[in-house]
Amino acid sequence: VQQWAVSFGKEIAALSAKYSGAKLLQKKYKDIEGAVKIEEVDGEELVKKFAEEMEEMLGRKMKSVKKLAEAAEDADLVHEYNETLQFDYFNSLLINTVDEDGNPIPLGGEFPLERNEHFNKLPVNTQQSNIQVPTNVYNQPDILNGVYMSEALNDIFVDNFQKDPTLTWQYFGSSTGFFRLYPIQWTPDENGVVTFDCRNRNYIQAATSPKDVIIVVDVSGSMKGLRLTIAKHTINTILDTLGENDFVNIIAYSDYVRYVEPCFKGILVQADLDNREHFKLLIDELHVRGEGKVKNAMKESFKILNEVQGQGSLCNQAIMLITDGAMEDFQDVFQEFNWPDRRVRVFTYLIGREMTFAENVKWIACNNKYYTHVSTLADVQENVMEYLHVLSRPMVINHDHDIIWTEAYMDSVLFNTQAQSLLMMTSVAMPVFSKKEETLSHGILLGVVGTDVALRELMRLAPRYKVS
Ligand SMILES: *[C@@H]1O[C@H](CO)[C@@H](O)[C@H](O)[C@H]1NC(C)=O
Repeated sequence: VQQWAVSFGKEIAALSAKYSGAKLLQKKYKDIEGAVKIEEVDGEELVKKFAEEMEEMLGRKMKSVKKLAEAAEDADLVHEYNETLQFDYFNSLLINTVDEDGNPIPLGGEFPLERNEHFNKLPVNTQQSNIQVPTNVYNQPDILNGVYMSEALNDIFVDNFQKDPTLTWQYFGSSTGFFRLYPIQWTPDENGVVTFDCRNRNYIQAATSPKDVIIVVDVSGSMKGLRLTIAKHTINTILDTLGENDFVNIIAYSDYVRYVEPCFKGILVQADLDNREHFKLLIDELHVRGEGKVKNAMKESFKILNEVQGQGSLCNQAIMLITDGAMEDFQDVFQEFNWPDRRVRVFTYLIGREMTFAENVKWIACNNKYYTHVSTLADVQENVMEYLHVLSRPMVINHDHDIIWTEAYMDSVLFNTQAQSLLMMTSVAMPVFSKKEETLSHGILLGVVGTDVALRELMRLAPRYKVS
């Protein structure tokens, strides 16, 4: 009876958090009144207490993240860029790997790893952090300098973990593409190729304020073949930089303007995971035909953005124009909708090698500054990252260190076994800026520091356990 009462009691507490007081349920208790002690629980009070405890717990995490941000900025300030830097860091793919003669290999290093309950039962070493680098940016001077500079974070990771043992993974995701993760763990990799790029992870949201983005893609006949492939990849990469604080829509144009999702006509939708995935499916089906009439597509985009001004995410509005050139001159659209204030930033991704009708697009470069040329698939990531830098600039210049809670996600890259990947996580993250004098005026985003919080951890504080 006792056992049963306890479990029933838990149910009651959960319900009483919903309905103030447990009166409703008291009737059901009649039979066992002697065995069970019934106490009225004030639901509002319970929820308030839960909120306070959560706030306190999250407050501790934010404090740790702030320390990481400060340390990274200080380390960058004193670091002098060295083009020829040689530096052996510990690569998470190579940890504890030996060559044929049994000697540790470069970037390997020997670390005793212990299976740790706290880190999803993965074998870890809590003395240090190690580095994940996507193969395409391996060992470039930018990476080496960044890795070298961010060594300073090791002590902070360890210190944070000592002060708050509830902390799990702590990280620095560099805008150059490497990822420093504490504690050390070994990342098995079946293909020998690391496609994982930390800049794709949703915490890149931390680097920009909420934004309204309209992606405008040219699907006229000239965009066939590789151009369309690059365009699709560009759209997907842009979508990956958006999160649930952002709003988005995608317009395709040829002879006429078409919303890729007709139900989203004339509006912006939240860029949450569902909508992003939905857009990706639709993008996959795009095909080309006809002539590219960019003017109407731009008009439509400006109209939507003008309409939502005053609601939604105000701070940052952008149009991403993806095309291989425009047959018509569309300056007057800008004149009508965006000048002189230039509230909407227009980023142009000019696709393809040879530029036939590029002139009509290139003037954007003079007038709006944001213009990149994408001729191969490999260019896409770098080019898309560029827009984040531009949008984060106001934050950078004001040194606006907003703490961001990312949407809950399941990390299938970091934790590749299924049981581990079932853990829902959220990330507390914060942008890191260069404090060097020469960069202050235009602002440089170094990356993002943060820590993952398992939702399980938050649920532990939920009031259903608070039963006396
Ligand atoms: C740059 O790095 C190389 C290799 O680590 C080192 O020999 C050289 O002294 C460094 N240059 C400066 C200016 O620190």
